[in-house]
Amino acid sequence: MSGIETLGVVGGGFMGTGIAESAARAGLSVVIYEPEQAPLDRSQASLEKSIGRAVSRGKLSDQEGSDMLNRVAWTRSLDDFDGVDGVVEAIIEDAKAKGSIFKKLDALLPDATFLASNTSSIPIAEIAAWTQRPDRVIGIHFFSPVPVMSLVEIVRAIDTSDETLAAAGAFAATMGKHPVHTADRAGFIVNMLLVPYLMSAIRMYEDGFATAEDIDEGMKRGCGHPMGPLQLADFIGLDVMYAIGESLYEEFKRPDFAPPPILKRLVVSGHFGRKSGRGFYEYPPAKVPAAA
Ligand code: CAA
Repeated sequence: MSGIETLGVVGGGFMGTGIAESAARAGLSVVIYEPEQAPLDRSQASLEKSIGRAVSRGKLSDQEGSDMLNRVAWTRSLDDFDGVDGVVEAIIEDAKAKGSIFKKLDALLPDATFLASNTSSIPIAEIAAWTQRPDRVIGIHFFSPVPVMSLVEIVRAIDTSDETLAAAGAFAATMGKHPVHTADRAGFIVNMLLVPYLMSAIRMYEDGFATAEDIDEGMKRGCGHPMGPLQLADFIGLDVMYAIGESLYEEFKRPDFAPPPILKRLVVSGHFGRKSGRGFYEYPPAKVPAAA
């Protein structure tokens, strides 16, 4: 047992909702917080759809699906986190926005086992500095789509205690995830390796050296990757890719991490990849069948 029976998730985007789905599937009760109603509604609709798909594919019974859904609550008030055993924050990659959430959580939840961030690139120590108990702050970095990907990176910051580290490891195991451990450095293990690869592919496309399709087919068919690098960048979100590239460049000052100009042009134009309908590729909205 990890000691985490009720989990608070800050942020109901693709990652936050995926974390909530995996936690509910593992039998935990979950409360998802978003300050606005529209993202909460989207989070609820996407969880219902994902559970519905699992039921229709025979991975869950009807009863298991509805029990799972009943274990998740959505709220616009952080006060509803009262009594949660631990929190995972999964909001935008912005150190100040994360810090101010951690400051509030710290004041609200003096007994929480851990306050974790799902950041992919912001140093955990920088987030922990906003709290009075940095020993309880840790990085638990999930991968997208969370219900499918089995990895979590557990990131120990300078003041993280042994107890917090052990609790985060047990929590990952409860969720059925495989933990790898890293020190507190932007990019941790996976993004340190993945981001230069994705940025190189974007530069290759930007230079007109090959088409997006050929770059992606090259890596899928030549290296057995499930998605090519430009498809993967669109899937992760170009705004997220840009923020991660900036954080890594800020930390290491190495040009292979720096976002290429075309990535910035796409992001400032609102082309965030799959979620906005356009990135390196176009994604027409899913057709809703007409009512009978
Ligand atoms: N929620 C729940 N289940 C999902 C899902 C979701 N969002 N998306 C896919 N699945 C499930 C499907 O239900 C399906 O399950 P079954 O086979 O048991 O029925 C399975 O995953 C495969 O899905 P599909 O058949 O729809 O599609 P696919 O075979 O093309 O696989 C994919 C989709 C799993 C996303 C695959 O393309 C893939 O692995 N892509 C690479 C993903 C990757 O690299 N992720 C890491 C990104 S980096 C990151 O996250 C870190 C960071 O900080 C940026």
